[in-house]
Amino acid sequence: MEQKKLTVLDIKAFKNSEKAITSLTAYDYPWALLMDKAGLDIILVGDSLGMVVLGYDDTVAVTMDEMLHHLKAVTRAVERALVVGDLPFGSYNVSIAKAVENANRFMKEGKADCVKLEGGKNMAHVVEAIVKAGIPVQGHIGLTPQTVSALGGYKVQGKSAQAAQVIIDDAKALEDAGCFSLVLEAITAPVARIITETVSIPTIGIGSGIHCDGQVLVTHDMLGLFDRFTPKFVKQYTKISEIAATAITEFKTDVEKKKFPEEQHSFNLKPDEFKKIERNLK
Ligand code: KIV
Repeated sequence: MEQKKLTVLDIKAFKNSEKAITSLTAYDYPWALLMDKAGLDIILVGDSLGMVVLGYDDTVAVTMDEMLHHLKAVTRAVERALVVGDLPFGSYNVSIAKAVENANRFMKEGKADCVKLEGGKNMAHVVEAIVKAGIPVQGHIGLTPQTVSALGGYKVQGKSAQAAQVIIDDAKALEDAGCFSLVLEAITAPVARIITETVSIPTIGIGSGIHCDGQVLVTHDMLGLFDRFTPKFVKQYTKISEIAATAITEFKTDVEKKKFPEEQHSFNLKPDEFKKIERNLK
């Protein structure tokens, strides 16, 4: 049966329902296909790509071209989920014109359904311009990895009353600017709850407790496929790297011991034809 494609209006409507919004990151065709078939609501082509797939130290180095390359692979697979393209660092903080131009590229070339960008009040004018251009925007506040050096490291946000107020004000500013939803990253759970109860758009938490309207994780973290570290807020559902390592070692052993390929993995030709080849060689 053909799946109805989810829109930002469907995602917004989940806010006032019992349904929790489900989201994971994807960077390529096969994983996006699996996620879409599993019925996830939002597939985020995150700039976490830089760390978990491309091997960079952080997300700052990720380029528009790299994001577009992976965004295109994901949108080729997805029929139902809303696909969010994550604008990389440097693509929306130079000028409004550049931000709108890059958001347009995600929609036209990458076939994204919407874009995401990091920042609060300071980015509200950028959000407003992209929304005015007809492109839905997902905000991202709290721990914003692209500006981790300004934040002083990967730290939990909203631990003091003053810090909490700044994030709450950021959430309201982004709602006013036209965001259709907000990612809340590594925000103390009580503050994430206040934000969720304060704004009329859905909040998607990552490391921000149970009271958000939905949850997102970096897929390579939850599948045990990222080797460097696992944040405290990640639930690791499996250890794919161990399963894959076993298969790779088995393949190596099979080849070395001449156990692979077997008859069923090989192609043959008719004996008569083979005899002709042998005769021709003489
Ligand atoms: O890039 C990403 O994967 C993200 C998530 C952490 C929400 O922005």
